[in-house]
Amino acid sequence: MTTLVFVFTNNKGGVVKSTSATNVAFGLVQTLRYSGISEPRVLLVDTDGQAHTTLLTTGGKDFGERDSLHTVLMADRQEVFPTMQHCLVQSQWDEGLHVLPGSSWLDEIEDHLFSVNGAPFRLAQAIEPLLPSYHAVVIDTRPSYILMTKMAIIAETEAIIPIEPRYLEGISINEAIREITDIRDGWGYNNIRIGGILITK
Ligand SMILES: Nc1ncnc2c1ncn2[C@@H]1O[C@H](COP(=O)(O)OP(=O)(O)O)[C@@H](O)[C@H]1O
Ligand SMILES: [Mg+2]
Repeated sequence: MTTLVFVFTNNKGGVVKSTSATNVAFGLVQTLRYSGISEPRVLLVDTDGQAHTTLLTTGGKDFGERDSLHTVLMADRQEVFPTMQHCLVQSQWDEGLHVLPGSSWLDEIEDHLFSVNGAPFRLAQAIEPLLPSYHAVVIDTRPSYILMTKMAIIAETEAIIPIEPRYLEGISINEAIREITDIRDGWGYNNIRIGGILITK
C-alpha cells in the first residue's frame, strides 16, 4: 500500500489551509476506523511558524528548539529517525492522529539551511521511514513558496490547493499550480500531482 502524502498549499493566507488540513487529517482517521481498520494512524505535519495547526490539534503552541519540526530539520541526518520519534505528539482529537509540531523556530530555518547540501529534501527524508507506520500524511504549509514550503511539496504525493471563491484569491491558483509543476518537472519528481482544488468558505 502506498501512503499518500497530502500537502495543503496556496501562497495566499486565510484561505483555510490550516483548518482544512486539520479537519481532513481528522476525517481520514475517522473514515479509516469506520471502514474497519482497527488502528488507523494519520500524521499531521505543521510547517508554518504560526503553528495554528499545532495549536488546533494539540492545544499547545509552546513547541520549539528541542521538540518540533525545526528540531527534525536541524538534526544530523543519521539522527533524523530517533529525533522524529522524540518530537511526534498525539493530538487531542484522536489517538490515531499524531502531530509533528510547528514552531516559531521554523521562521529561521531558511537561514540555517541556506548553504546545507540537500536541504530541500530534509522533510521528505524525515517522513519516508515513517510511511509504513501511517495510513496517510497531511502537511500544512505557510502562505509563501519559501524553502520550507518547497520541502513540503517535494515530500508530497498529492497537492490540495484551498481557495476562497473570490477574484484575487482565485488568481493565486495559477501561482500555486506553477510552483508545484516547476518543482515536479524541474527536479524530476513525477510522483507529485495536484490532487484537487478545494473551494473554502
Ligand atoms: N468555512 C469557513 N467559513 C468562514 N471562516 C472559516 C471557515 N473555515 C475556517 N475559517 C476561518 O478562516 C480563518 C483562516 O483560516 P485558516 O485555516 O487559518 O487559513 P490559512 O491556514 O489558509 O491561513 C480562520 O480564522 C478560520 O477559523
Ligand atoms: Mg495556516
